[in-house]
Amino acid sequence: TEDARTNRIEAALRTLGDDVVILGHNYQRREIVEHADFVGDSYQLSKEAAAADAEYVVFGGVTFMAESADVITDPDQTVLLPSMEASCPMAGMAEALQVDAAWEELTAETDADVIPVTYMNSYADLKAFCAEQGGLVCTSSNAHEAFEYALDRGDKVLFLPDKHLGENTAHRLGLEEEIARWDPWAAESADASSVVENDVILWDGYCQVHERFRESHVESVREEHDDVDVVVHPECRREVVEAADVVGSTATIRETVANADAGDTWAIGTEIHLANHLGRWHPEVNVVPLCGDACMDCNAMRQIDPNYLAWILEELAAGREHNVIEVAPEEKELARVALDRMLEI
Ligand code: 13P
Ligand code: SF4
Repeated sequence: TEDARTNRIEAALRTLGDDVVILGHNYQRREIVEHADFVGDSYQLSKEAAAADAEYVVFGGVTFMAESADVITDPDQTVLLPSMEASCPMAGMAEALQVDAAWEELTAETDADVIPVTYMNSYADLKAFCAEQGGLVCTSSNAHEAFEYALDRGDKVLFLPDKHLGENTAHRLGLEEEIARWDPWAAESADASSVVENDVILWDGYCQVHERFRESHVESVREEHDDVDVVVHPECRREVVEAADVVGSTATIRETVANADAGDTWAIGTEIHLANHLGRWHPEVNVVPLCGDACMDCNAMRQIDPNYLAWILEELAAGREHNVIEVAPEEKELARVALDRMLEI
C-alpha cells in the first residue's frame, strides 16, 4: 500500500539523514513530489543541484536532468536516478554525432559566426559540443536570454532540439522573419546555403507531450468555461502559444496559478501531473487541464515509479548505490562550461 511504501521511504531517509537530497521535477507523480526536498522547473533544479551539499542527489526527473546534476555537482557527490528508463524522447532527437554532421554542412556554407544553443533537454555530449563552439544551454525560462547571448557574440543561432521553443523564442525577440528549419531526417536534405541565410536555425525536434496541444483545445476550453485564462508551456506549437494568455516554464505556470484570485479559472497547457498538482495545491482556484482528462502524460517522467524511489533509498541506506548517473570526464568539463554560461546570464 502507499502507507507501507511511505513508511519504507521515511525509514530510509531517517538512516540517510543529511547524506541525501531528493530533487523532483514539476511533472513527477504526487507520490514522488511529496517526498522531494525541492520541486521545480529545469532551471531551478539545476540551481538546486549546484547548491546541494548532500553526498547523494536522488533525482525525480529524466536522464538529461540527472546528467546535468552530475555535471554541476562536486566530484564527490553522486547522482542517482530511480529508473534508468526515464529518457526524454526529445533529448534523443538531437544526437551529438548527427548535430556534428549538420554543423559541418551548415557552417561550410557561410562565413558568419553561428552559435549553437541547446535546450536543457539534451544529453551531455551535445551540451559539450555547444560549449566547444562558443554556445550554451538554456531552459524554457531563459531561452530568450540565451538567444540574445548567442546573437551578441555571433551572427546566427542554431537552436536545438525543440523547434517549438525555438520558434516561440524567435517571435518573442521579433526575429520571426529570420527563422529557417533544419530537418536532419528529411529524405532530401534542405539546401544548407539558403538555410544559413537566416539568423535563427531551428533543429526539427519536439516534445511529443506538448505538441499534442492544439489551438482547438484553447477554443474548446474558452467555450466551456466563462472567464477562463489559459497558461501554456513554450514547448507547445506556435498557434497554441498565440491563443493562450500566458506562456512560460513550469515554474511560471506554478506562479501564475499561485497568484490567481480565489474563484478564478485557469486552464493548464502542460503535462497532466503538474495540472493535477496545481488543483491540489490551490483548491481555491478552478484549475482545469487544457485538454480534458489525463491525455498529456509524459511517459518518460512516469518511469519514476514511487516503488523505485523506495528501493533506491533503502539500498542507499544499506550502503549500496544503484543507477548512478555519471557523465564521461571529457564531456563533463565542457558540458559544465555550457551550463555555467546559462547560470551566469
Ligand atoms: P521546465 O520545467 O524547465 O519548464 O521544462 C519542461 C520540460 O519539458 C521538462 O522536460
Ligand atoms: Fe521530454 Fe516532453 Fe517529457 Fe519534458 S514533457 S521530459 S520534453 S517528453
